Amino acid sequence: MLIIANWKMNPLDIKNALRLLNFYKKLKYKDLWVAPPYVYLPILIKRFKNFTFGAQNIHYEKSGAYTGEISAYMIKKIGCKFVIINHSERRKMGETLEIANLKIKQALKNNLISVVCFGEQKKIDDLKKLKNIWNREFNILFKDIKNFKKIILAYEPSWAISTQKMGPVPKEIVKDFLEWIKNKINSQIKILYGGSVFPENIENYLDLNINGFLIGSQSLKPKNFKIIINKIKNVV
Ligand code: 13P
Repeated sequence: MLIIANWKMNPLDIKNALRLLNFYKKLKYKDLWVAPPYVYLPILIKRFKNFTFGAQNIHYEKSGAYTGEISAYMIKKIGCKFVIINHSERRKMGETLEIANLKIKQALKNNLISVVCFGEQKKIDDLKKLKNIWNREFNILFKDIKNFKKIILAYEPSWAISTQKMGPVPKEIVKDFLEWIKNKINSQIKILYGGSVFPENIENYLDLNINGFLIGSQSLKPKNFKIIINKIKNVV
């Protein structure tokens, strides 16, 4: 199972970033990808050759007058293999699905894997309404994209992220999502679940037909992360 650790805007310095990676190394879990803040990427990529690293964001253009932005080309050049796109925390900062679509295309052009976050922004129980939202989101996000080989979809509704204290998504809804996506895309696509994955609930999701997890807060807590990894190791 693929585990992607999204560190978000953490830890506060390189010393702690190195400490965390050294801890990850001891877990000896081969399918662990890490998305640290940009500033740590060159150092971590150089020092930890056996890990797969990615960025938490890119701009949709290759270069130009975009103060404060980083392009897909740049992160590819330093050795990143993937990028997270359409994270709900970026959507809250004003990013639209249309922009995310351009970013996916830019990532594809640079041969990067797009880990595309997906899901409803509010908790909705009505499956019909949910499917309408998923369909709309899918159609905008993947407009003009035919090949899903370099795309990983992370079902991670924003309401379910740990900071919102409403997650995780009930298993039944994740199952509905898996059903829906299977009908939507004919080709094989890797699906992750994300949102309030904790040591106490990870087992709940291990028998689902998913390819792994996108983990935020708990990836920064060594003791908890180790429990999560060990529980996953038991089933793979
Ligand atoms: P939590 O695991 O803290 O809910 O965060 C999920 C996330 O945003 C990963 O991208």
